[in-house]
Amino acid sequence: MIYILNMKLGVYQFNPERLNLDANLRKISNAVLSHPQLDIVVFPELATSGYLFKSKNELMDVAVEVPGSPVFERLVSLAGDTDALLVVGLPEKKGDCVYNSAVAFFPDGTFMTYRKLHLFDREKWYFTPGDIGLTTFTFRDAKVGIMICFDWIFPEMARSIALLGVELLLHPANLVLPWGQRAMQIRAIENRIFTATANRIGKESVSGVSLTFTGRSQIVSPDGKVIVSADESSEMVIFADIDTSIARDKKITKNNDIFEDRRPEFYKL
Ligand code: ACM
Repeated sequence: MIYILNMKLGVYQFNPERLNLDANLRKISNAVLSHPQLDIVVFPELATSGYLFKSKNELMDVAVEVPGSPVFERLVSLAGDTDALLVVGLPEKKGDCVYNSAVAFFPDGTFMTYRKLHLFDREKWYFTPGDIGLTTFTFRDAKVGIMICFDWIFPEMARSIALLGVELLLHPANLVLPWGQRAMQIRAIENRIFTATANRIGKESVSGVSLTFTGRSQIVSPDGKVIVSADESSEMVIFADIDTSIARDKKITKNNDIFEDRRPEFYKL
C-alpha cells in the first residue's frame, strides 16, 4: 500500500508566563509565524495564562470569552494569516464559570471548543468540569480529536474518541505526574492512532504550592513509536510529516482487528 504524507503537524513546547497574556500570545504568534509550513500547531494546556491561581478572581481576570474577546480574535486572525489549524489551551470564561478548555481555531475563521472533562487536583477549586462532551472534527482529510492533560489517565476517554473514527488525538498538557508521556504511547498503541502531546516546561509556585512541568512533548505513531520529542526544559517547536490514514487500519495481526474484536457485551466500554 502507498501512503501519502498528508499532514505537517507541529507542537510548541514553552514556558507560559503566569498571568501575562500579552507575553504568552506573542510567543504563540512567533512560534506559528516562524513555522509557516505547518498544517496544525498544538499548544499546551492554559498556554495563555499559566497554570496556578491564587483565587477564582485571579483566574477570572485572565479567562477568555470564546468567542467575543480580543484574545479570541487575535487567535482567529493568527490561524487565518498562517492558514493553519491552531489548538490552544486557555481558561474559557462563561458567565461565572471558567472551563479549562482547548480551542481549535480553523484558518477559515471558525472554531471548536473542548472543555476538559477530568479536572486534576486543585483545578477542581476554580474550574468548572467540562459539560460539552467529546470534540472531534475533520481537518484536511484527517479526523481529529482533542483531550487535555489529565484526561490521559482515563483510557476510556481516548478509546471513546478513537471509536468515533479519530485518527489524530491532540493533547494540550501541563503534565506534572511522571507517567503521562508513556501513557500516551499506550493510548496510541491500544487505539492505533497518532497522538500529539504539547506539554509545557518550567515551574510555578503560588500560595505554598510548587509544580514542575515535565516537558518532553511528543508526536507518537499508531504503533507507539515516538516520531519526534522535545527535551524536558527547552522552548521549541517539534514537527513531523504524518499520514493520518494509517490510523484507519485497526489490524494488529492478520486475524485481529482491535475494534472488531472488542466484546462490549462483557464490559461497559
Ligand atoms: C494536569 O491535568 N494539568 C495535570
